[in-house]
Amino acid sequence: MRTRLRKWSLLLGAAAVLALPLTSWAQLTQFDLEKTLNAESHVGNVTGRAKDAAASYRRYCVGCHGTLGDGEGENAVWMDAPMYQKPRNFQLGVFKCRSTPTGTLPTDQDLYDAITRGFDRSNMPQWNTLSKQERADLVAWVKHFSPRWAGEKPGTPITVPPEPEVTAERIKAGRDVFARVQCWKCHGVQGMANGPSASTLTDDLGRPIAPFNFTDGSRPKCGDTDQDIYRIFMTGLDGTPMPSFADNIKPEEAWDLVFYLRTFMAQKSKEKGLAKQLALKPVDPNAPAGQQ
Ligand code: HEC
Ligand code: HEC
Repeated sequence: MRTRLRKWSLLLGAAAVLALPLTSWAQLTQFDLEKTLNAESHVGNVTGRAKDAAASYRRYCVGCHGTLGDGEGENAVWMDAPMYQKPRNFQLGVFKCRSTPTGTLPTDQDLYDAITRGFDRSNMPQWNTLSKQERADLVAWVKHFSPRWAGEKPGTPITVPPEPEVTAERIKAGRDVFARVQCWKCHGVQGMANGPSASTLTDDLGRPIAPFNFTDGSRPKCGDTDQDIYRIFMTGLDGTPMPSFADNIKPEEAWDLVFYLRTFMAQKSKEKGLAKQLALKPVDPNAPAGQQ
């Protein structure tokens, strides 16, 4: 009897050790979240406080992002991949729109901008009608859901060098970058979201996700200025298959690539005009390296 008991307690001990890493990933409860209610944000000269955001979160956000910030609000079931992404699970502390390198936390300003801008082609509305203070408070509230902020600082924003003049040479150089780093595998040779990998993509939670279609008039989720587009492929959209190319693309090449991407976009631009004059052809996926 004694030996049997001992065996059991050994087994139980082993089970407890195995369960440890799992519990650290477990869903946070209301009780856990009360401990982080002192979270703050700093946006310009405004200090946001989580505890002041409870009412506006309940009013404006809870239906999608859920009481516990896990993205399981009652409307979430209606958002179906790959057409629509589910509301973000804030407990994971993983965000798409960052000025900071891939894998790091966004800055408070990044979260503020995402909330203000809203996400095109998604159910995430734009919240520019809320006051600056309300939005800053909501940033602090979003942060209070993830234990990542207790142990980590946001990444250091990447440097975006001043934008050079658009030239035909730069657009051609951008086309070479697009071919070399194989953006076309997902986005397609004409940016129409129909590359060979497009239909196979899933996000980090295993849900189908479509690449961005540059040609149908959509706006990038993380902003549509030239600087925003530069940042998107140099920091990546964390949680999605859209990677960071910071290790493969040099800063001066990155501007060439931004100019080339503009030639796909529906909106009128100097780049589109130049591409037409050049009679620029789409990249050839079968061309040998360096011979586009
Ligand atoms: C109608 C549903 C809906 C409502 C209401 C809503 N969101 Fe969202 N939110 C989403 C969806 C969907 C996404 C993910 C979009 C995507 O990834 O394409 C998202 C993403 C986000 C993100 C992630 C940004 C990033 O860079 O990854 C933040 C932060 C956010 N929402 C904050 C808020 C706040 C704060 C409110 C309330 C003021 C709010 N949301 C209200 C649906 C909603
Ligand atoms: C492995 C597939 C893959 C590759 C390779 C890839 N992308 Fe993407 N890209 C995606 C996906 C998926 C999205 C959509 C993410 C979303 O909607 O959340 C995306 C979105 C984008 C967006 C829009 C982001 C936004 O804010 O909505 C831009 C711009 C972009 N990619 C540029 C590029 C460029 C430039 C390259 C090459 C340097 C590239 N991508 C390579 C999969 C890829």
